[in-house]
Amino acid sequence: MNIELADIHCHILPGMDDGPAGMGETVEMARVYLSLGYSHVIATPHVENIFHGREDIHALTDRVQDLLLDMGLPLTVLPGAEVLMNPDLPRLFQEKALPTLNRTRYVLIEFPIFDPFPDYAEGVFFQLVTQGLIPIIAHPERNRCFQQQGELLLRLINHGALLQVDQGSLVGTYGEEAQETARRLLRTSVVSFVASNMHRAPFKRSYYRTQREGMLTAWNQVRRLAGRKGLDEIYFTNPDALIKNIPMAVMLEPQNESFLKKFRSLLP
Ligand SMILES: [Fe+2]
Repeated sequence: MNIELADIHCHILPGMDDGPAGMGETVEMARVYLSLGYSHVIATPHVENIFHGREDIHALTDRVQDLLLDMGLPLTVLPGAEVLMNPDLPRLFQEKALPTLNRTRYVLIEFPIFDPFPDYAEGVFFQLVTQGLIPIIAHPERNRCFQQQGELLLRLINHGALLQVDQGSLVGTYGEEAQETARRLLRTSVVSFVASNMHRAPFKRSYYRTQREGMLTAWNQVRRLAGRKGLDEIYFTNPDALIKNIPMAVMLEPQNESFLKKFRSLLP
């Protein structure tokens, strides 16, 4: 499998969430991704409890992939989900009711943006990791609880969580707090992925330009804040390892003293 550039978080499946309304817009999104140089995307529709389950998502991903192949569009679309944190997650994953990312051990979990930190979250992460899964927290920089208390994020990292930052956060789409938190996380070398989290693609030429500019802005910031090596891991090595279901080349060492010092000095 030759992966050039892969997006691990996007809403490209039609009619399933707040992503594209129909197949036409899904195809437009695929064209945008191809124009940006992506070869692979993981479709991650929002899942709250079992609003739509694993089988539905796998079937719709296959339909989208078949259509793109028929149209000669060389974008590989893989199944996944962005699952909202809830206390039943370990059971739902155990019963295979929810999709993992490309049928691997990796799972993408989001927290409600403005809610306080759920007291059951640590237990859920502990159980998921015990089950052999690798939880990835979707855009923690946008969650008020993590913006205000970096220590909460540190607890989940200690349980084995990886972090995915949204490209839009670095560009300023979600406000100053999200942007500043994203930058601090990148400086702490604690970010494993930057993803587009693209939801729609208006049928406008200007959208292609906006996306390209956003991608370049984010890319430059990652290089400045996480260094050349960090850039390479975040955009290439880590997504590649995820899709192939192998461990990340560089795992975090949350107990490491210099890491803890740096993290605590940057995040409140
Ligand atoms: Fe999302």
